[in-house]
Amino acid sequence: MFEPIHNKWGEIWRLSKEELFSLPPSFFRNKIYEKRLIIIKSVGQLSTQEIYYLMDRFGKPWNRDQYIGSKEQHFESVHNNQHYCLTTFDNSDPIKNKKIPSIEMPWHADIPNSKDKPFPHRFLYMNAQPDSNYGKTRWLNIDLDFLELNSVEDSYYRECSVVQQSWWEKGQNLQHLPFIKTHPIVKDRESLRLNFYVKENLPGTKSAWILYSFHKSDKIPNEQLIGYTIERLYQRKELVYEHTWDVGDMAIYDNWSFVHGRTELIDDTNALRQFIRGNIDHQTHEEFSLKSFFNL
Ligand SMILES: [Fe+2]
Repeated sequence: MFEPIHNKWGEIWRLSKEELFSLPPSFFRNKIYEKRLIIIKSVGQLSTQEIYYLMDRFGKPWNRDQYIGSKEQHFESVHNNQHYCLTTFDNSDPIKNKKIPSIEMPWHADIPNSKDKPFPHRFLYMNAQPDSNYGKTRWLNIDLDFLELNSVEDSYYRECSVVQQSWWEKGQNLQHLPFIKTHPIVKDRESLRLNFYVKENLPGTKSAWILYSFHKSDKIPNEQLIGYTIERLYQRKELVYEHTWDVGDMAIYDNWSFVHGRTELIDDTNALRQFIRGNIDHQTHEEFSLKSFFNL
């Protein structure tokens, strides 16, 4: 019913809808912090309401107001006075009204620059895809627990920092942050602040989240700190999982622990590849227990 992806992180669940919904809510929340990435296979068709119920067991799903700047199609509803919202995410560009390029999606972690609740869990439900050989999603685990850094590397990274910017407005909402970040819920869990970064010669990256990199007070090239580190870690199979999607598959992952990307898409303008997706804020054990207790 549950099989590991790697020894200590990642798990694939194969169970029926009845089995899935009979698990207690605390099971889901504990699992996402223990395993960081959960893939749910072969559960069959789920309604948007059922997807919301599932998301609700991992933390606090976002409402419509939190999807600031999102141009995707939104599904809103209300249950027990809770407003919830899911979006569709597909291979068309809602702003330019055309297909997005089929090239690889670069490594990144979602929603890194929110000042109060960065790196929410992401929930993905594969709704339609033309060919499972394309658009594979890959995760690279960047938790220090698994990186086995030597003392020189550890000290070096602790002396580094990055300046992040808004995804929507270049040069806005600047935040100067340590390169090593600490999980807000699992307090002793540290990870690298890796993300999509600005490359001097690539104008398409100018609104990437990481604007500058520093070692102590010296500005260093983003490629040196971010690009090189990702490239090096990606060589290590025990840190990587690449998922081949079937329609109906779901993935829930904790953005604190990963950068992720995807392989190229099929180059066919009529081929719809679509997820239903949502973000889920982390909740402390107390917040989550209270919600379950009152069945909110
Ligand atoms: Fe993403």
